Amino acid sequence: MGLFLKSEAPSISPQPSCRAQPRIMIAVRQAQRVIITGATSGIGAALGRRYARQGATLGLIARRKPGLEQLARELPVVSEIYPLDVRDSAAVAAAGHEFVARHGAPDIVIANAGVSVGTLTDHADDTRVFEDVIDINVIGVVNTFQPFLARMREERRGSLVGIASVAGYRGLPGAAAYSASKAAAIAYLESLRVELTGSGVKVITICPGYVATPMTAENPYPMPFLMSADAAAEKIGAIIARGSSYAVIPWQMAIVARCLRVMPNWLYDLLFARAPRKPRRPF
Ligand SMILES: NC(=O)c1ccc[n+]([C@@H]2O[C@H](COP(=O)([O-])OP(=O)(O)OC[C@H]3O[C@@H](n4cnc5c(N)ncnc54)[C@H](OP(=O)(O)O)[C@@H]3O)[C@@H](O)[C@H]2O)c1
Repeated sequence: MGLFLKSEAPSISPQPSCRAQPRIMIAVRQAQRVIITGATSGIGAALGRRYARQGATLGLIARRKPGLEQLARELPVVSEIYPLDVRDSAAVAAAGHEFVARHGAPDIVIANAGVSVGTLTDHADDTRVFEDVIDINVIGVVNTFQPFLARMREERRGSLVGIASVAGYRGLPGAAAYSASKAAAIAYLESLRVELTGSGVKVITICPGYVATPMTAENPYPMPFLMSADAAAEKIGAIIARGSSYAVIPWQMAIVARCLRVMPNWLYDLLFARAPRKPRRPF
């Protein structure tokens, strides 16, 4: 919490005999409360560090408890940790309710947890992987927002942020599950944004291009406009602060994404048919 001094004219009408005297009011600026999923690694951990620098109170979620404990130890702010799987709606709800009971409703909820792995439809084994990718990258986002939404609506404030991907713009060969999950996330976030019009709660969709994290560490192809996780977190934080409803980062990738969206199928197929693919593997 930060204290700041504010000079203010009296809020009640002065008596006719009194001259209006400026009053010094002490107001308390509440630090932001931020929930971040996928906080043990990459973009999520960088977002934790970014908001900690601003003095935020954090709710950090991911499956690996030691990773959450380590990040919380490093951050000089109050950080609640919730080791859980975002597919487990009951666990996410319990964590959400506990955070709200301790700290109040969050100002920002960032659904960032996600997985990326190659999948191929002709491999029966990949069906289970396909389900997991959709569950984590789409249902996980729904589960993350759900426990906070009623309270944020009541208070008519706050931002729900989904980290989607440029991979949701077109179907990437070899990454069908990932592309489908991010396309679904983009559409889900748009539905939610329109549903919440006029409620005071913002919905923000962010589509990063390539970010250097464990998710991309073994990609066997060139990654144009690759950003560090810290640079991505800075850009994401700035977009959230501006309250934009939709953004692709970095700006160079926004141009690529626009081109991809309008590209005719024949040209897209020609360019991407032989593109190197994300390796298949269980996770
Ligand atoms: N890196 C990129 O180039 C890129 C580009 C566009 C979009 N994105 C998106 O950005 C987000 C973050 O990716 P990243 O690059 O930072 O990847 P990352 O380093 O692999 O981090 C992914 C995070 O998600 C968590 N997670 C995964 N499955 C989870 C589950 N079931 N429940 C709870 N937490 C789970 C992981 O923690 P645990 O393993 O501890 O659970 C980890 O903290 C993802 O949604 C990704 O799709 C990344």
